[in-house]
Amino acid sequence: MKLTPARLLDGRLRLPGDKSISHRAALIAALAEGSSEILNFSTAADCASTLACLRELGVSIERKHDKVIFAGNQKLVAPRRPLDCGNSGSTLRILAGVLAGHDFTAELIGDESLSSRPMRRIIEPLEMMGAKIESTDSKAPLKVHGSNRLNPITYKLPVASAQVKSAILFAGLSVKGRTTVIETSPSRDHTERLFNGFGVPVTTNADLSVTLDGPARFTGGPITIPGDVSSAAYFVAAAMLLPESRLIIQGVGLNPTRAAFLSVLSSWGAGISTTDLQTERNEPYGTITVRGGLTGTAGDSERTLSRSMIPSLIDELPLLAVAGSQIPGGIQIRDAAELRLKESDRLATTATNLRAMGAEVEEFDDGLAVSGPTQLHGALIDSHGDHRIAMAFSVAALIAKGETEIAGAECVAISFPEFFTLLESLAKR
Ligand code: S3P
Repeated sequence: MKLTPARLLDGRLRLPGDKSISHRAALIAALAEGSSEILNFSTAADCASTLACLRELGVSIERKHDKVIFAGNQKLVAPRRPLDCGNSGSTLRILAGVLAGHDFTAELIGDESLSSRPMRRIIEPLEMMGAKIESTDSKAPLKVHGSNRLNPITYKLPVASAQVKSAILFAGLSVKGRTTVIETSPSRDHTERLFNGFGVPVTTNADLSVTLDGPARFTGGPITIPGDVSSAAYFVAAAMLLPESRLIIQGVGLNPTRAAFLSVLSSWGAGISTTDLQTERNEPYGTITVRGGLTGTAGDSERTLSRSMIPSLIDELPLLAVAGSQIPGGIQIRDAAELRLKESDRLATTATNLRAMGAEVEEFDDGLAVSGPTQLHGALIDSHGDHRIAMAFSVAALIAKGETEIAGAECVAISFPEFFTLLESLAKR
């Protein structure tokens, strides 16, 4: 994909449903009593992987564009084939939790990237609960031997991960007794919000522990998935970086464990406001309005992203590194070694690609220091098959001098197939 610089972004839009919420809504609908209708279901390839796996498990699902209908009252059955999770860490890890509580064996497989990502983090707690999981070196393929007699556990997460927390909570649905997950830094809480929204008793306590009393019986129903705020992030950042821009994104998720990048950009002087706040099954959503340009100068503390902020910014960090190259004084990202374990090693792929565009970047074990402001120049960018790298550097391309080519740009379909079409419709040259 070749991209040329833009003068500004101008437009009003709505986005396909949030990827994280869509995965969870589909799993809940598959396990619920009664039928469910999910509207604005994510168009991401990752969420299609979740639906495909559920179909292999015998769940009846009808999909018409963004509407997905689950018949309900379904009993999962042993799949005849391995369950292909594609590139999707959320599918593999959270589904492993669901399978742990079912009395059959299922194999979870993924693509090359997913097969190289760490799975010890789910194997350990799910085995403590009583499932048996075979793997090679704690990586996928995983063979999950589930049990309908899992034990309740109290588990302190060694890494801040919503996928691991969710795997344990989904396994906890069938457990007789109280399952407790303790976090050290708060990660996205969609599972907790949707569980409560569909009648599963989950409590989040002041000490960052989450408790679920099982076995849980719950009923499906309609849900409209809020627009994906992580997809919105690319347009918001691009609008901020192109001073004449004016952008309105309606119906977009504003869950605080996901929308923290908005506060970060605002603290750098961005003209961002959120209005029309509403909720859908406990998930907040609303309208984001961006006026292009930056006012004021951010201090050192606003330009350092670290510690407990990291989990709620995790998917936006490559984009924030790109935006940070335009901030007086630049930015620092620390305590983010988890980025090395995503679809690509995002610290390395962000640093290499930023340098290719002329930025000065220092790479640490757990982060990056990006100098700024720097005039970026067009370059050949290697996405490494990582959707978030392809999209972050498409934003960089809009503010660079000259043409940028993104190699492997088709990987945006993993989370946001409409990305380039929408970007071109908003960009004025
Ligand atoms: C996700 C959680 C995050 C995030 C991923 C989606 C989820 O991963 O990076 O894109 O849906 O729970 P971790 O929970 O492993 O940090």
